[in-house]
Amino acid sequence: MAIHKTHKGKPLQRPRSSILVVLTATIACIVLLYLASSFFSTNGLSFSTKKTSFQSSNSDKYLYWGNRIDCPGKHCDSCEGLGHQESSLRCALEEAMFLQRTFVMPSRMCINPIHNKKGILHHPSDASSEERWAASSCAMDSLYDLDLISESVPVILDNSKQWHRVLSTSMKLGSRGIANVQGVSRDDLKLKSSYSNILLINRTASPLSWFMECKDRNNISAILLPYSFLPSMAAKKLRIAAEKIKGLLGDYDAIHVRRGDKLKTRKDRFGVDRTLHPHLDRDTRPEFIHCRIAKWVPLGRTLFIASNERTPGFFSRLSSRYKLAYSSNYSSILDPVVQNNYELFMVERLIMMGAKTFIRTFKEGDNDISLTDDPKKNTKTWQIPVYTMETGDC
Ligand SMILES: *[C@@H]1O[C@H](CO)[C@@H](O)[C@H](O)[C@H]1NC(C)=O
Ligand SMILES: *[C@@H]1O[C@H](CO)[C@@H](O)[C@H](O)[C@H]1NC(C)=O
Ligand SMILES: *[C@@H]1O[C@H](CO)[C@@H](O)[C@H](O)[C@H]1NC(C)=O
Repeated sequence: MAIHKTHKGKPLQRPRSSILVVLTATIACIVLLYLASSFFSTNGLSFSTKKTSFQSSNSDKYLYWGNRIDCPGKHCDSCEGLGHQESSLRCALEEAMFLQRTFVMPSRMCINPIHNKKGILHHPSDASSEERWAASSCAMDSLYDLDLISESVPVILDNSKQWHRVLSTSMKLGSRGIANVQGVSRDDLKLKSSYSNILLINRTASPLSWFMECKDRNNISAILLPYSFLPSMAAKKLRIAAEKIKGLLGDYDAIHVRRGDKLKTRKDRFGVDRTLHPHLDRDTRPEFIHCRIAKWVPLGRTLFIASNERTPGFFSRLSSRYKLAYSSNYSSILDPVVQNNYELFMVERLIMMGAKTFIRTFKEGDNDISLTDDPKKNTKTWQIPVYTMETGDC
């Protein structure tokens, strides 16, 4: 801007000032390049330079929902997949935001054995349920960047020094230190002085799932965090891996093909297989995908496929139209950083989020395009799977 002004102000000295402009611009470029290179080499990525330390503030108040996501309740020993647990965690984080309290996060996340193929699970039959849980869980900060989350909603872990300090302070404060609550509304927690002035609110959430606490809020303006919040808060090493892979993929499209768990069938009383998603098995096979996505993904594009289908070469047929890529193509980048399937899926999600055109398995939002028209929601009706294809099906 300044350069432009001098230039305009002295029209008669044009040749000299243009030399000056070139010189200044060159120097500015060199300085910028130097700054950029040192920035990137120290940060790896440009996500966050701010290190916020909410933990140091003594005036903070805290919200605790327990030391395991979705526990107490039916999910204490086993657990659901990553997406399900994230819905629960997001619900708790929204409450903390609403109450302007620091959220005390569980320090570990349970890994559902169905969702883990990376073999950290050995289940000696004599292990206690506590030991089995520890073996099938991973550190929360191996999945998420807590500093990055804290920029939107301050969090601490329940194995941290700060948490132990909060607990001992709350003990000293007696009745002003802690309020154990169950079934109390958010508005009451925020507005009633018997809650709002207390150092620590210890909520016992719904035993069905934590996210049930957010279930009845059809009020869009009351939703504070989008679905994409936690996926984009991936731990730094996972974000760096995703950036590298995205760089190698270049200009690409992506599909998420959910098979595995979602294809579950059970026999009715006549011995006939039935499923909750009658078209899903058909719609996630390469022949159908081929036909379905042609209108969105032009011939010759690079197509990144994230799937829990484990049959080798299952999607190979698509290679007649597209240049196929899977996370397995990038094992030299992923193997050193990814320790379990949750971490792998977090990287895959970041890659899918960066695609030019992204096709989900199920339609979730109004603007989504999807592989199947079956609803994601559990309809509770078990139907006979459909394999035939009508014209207009795809
Ligand atoms: C939170 O409340 C539950 C249920 O009342 C209780 O079992 C648990 O010990 C409490 N946690 C803390 C940290 O006080
Ligand atoms: C919806 O939520 C906003 C923000 O919390 C609140 O101000 C508004 O009154 C709510 N509307 C309804 C209809 O509940
Ligand atoms: C990925 O690996 C498959 C074989 O598993 C190969 O056919 C494909 O060309 C590879 N894609 C890329 C982008 O390297």
